[in-house]
Amino acid sequence: IEYSIRPKPLQGKRILITCGATREHIDRVRFISNESSGKMGFSLARVLRWYGASVKVVAGFTTAQEPPEVEIHRVSSSDEMYKKVLELFPWSHVVIMNAAVSDFKVLESFQGKIKKGEKLTLELVKTVDILEELGRIKGDRLLVGFALEEEEKLLEYGWEKLKKKNLDVLVANPLKVMGSEDFVGYVLFKDGSYVSIKSTNKLHAAEELVKIILNIKE
Ligand code: CTP
Ligand code: CA
Repeated sequence: IEYSIRPKPLQGKRILITCGATREHIDRVRFISNESSGKMGFSLARVLRWYGASVKVVAGFTTAQEPPEVEIHRVSSSDEMYKKVLELFPWSHVVIMNAAVSDFKVLESFQGKIKKGEKLTLELVKTVDILEELGRIKGDRLLVGFALEEEEKLLEYGWEKLKKKNLDVLVANPLKVMGSEDFVGYVLFKDGSYVSIKSTNKLHAAEELVKIILNIKE
């Protein structure tokens, strides 16, 4: 896809994206994480650059290729991601929260390596919901969330999350999208309207999402 000849309608727009998987350590060498590849977040960053935006990414663990001309901040745990996002938030006009943030963390992470035994009980506690926190302090920023749901609950839970987290836009995906090459889902807007995105590769989906969410006409 040729991007040097594209118009640059997002010149001057400062966009913060999170992507990838967080890790919550159980001990020095083991952790709780998820299947997120970072592919969607990095594709969004790439496309936003094509249209001239300034882009910063807070990335957890990813296997996808990093986009060019984008400032990437690496973090590991959900707490680290929260800290970095809060630091970059004032800079942003738009925030796209695509990271797969762990919902739980280990209450007390073991310093060294846990020895084997007959059984092990881990006590997990809730992590901060970064997006919900941003929803409280968003001001006039455009706040975009993602949601991963069972297919039959996609829209129902999607609308709930959009309201609960005070979002402008929520992109709702079925579980199969995580870690896969392709994207399919819905884009829900706070005015109650929505559009569906047909199954396509994540770079192409990112282009559609950027055009729909940031209202770009070509
Ligand atoms: N999110 C976040 N911080 C968390 C958990 C989620 O910022 N601790 C964000 C995700 O980045 C995503 C949105 O919230 O943009 C929805 O994440 P999802 O896991 O689909 O929903 P949850 O609110 O965590 O609820 P549940 O996992 O129970 O469906
Ligand atoms: Ca979750």
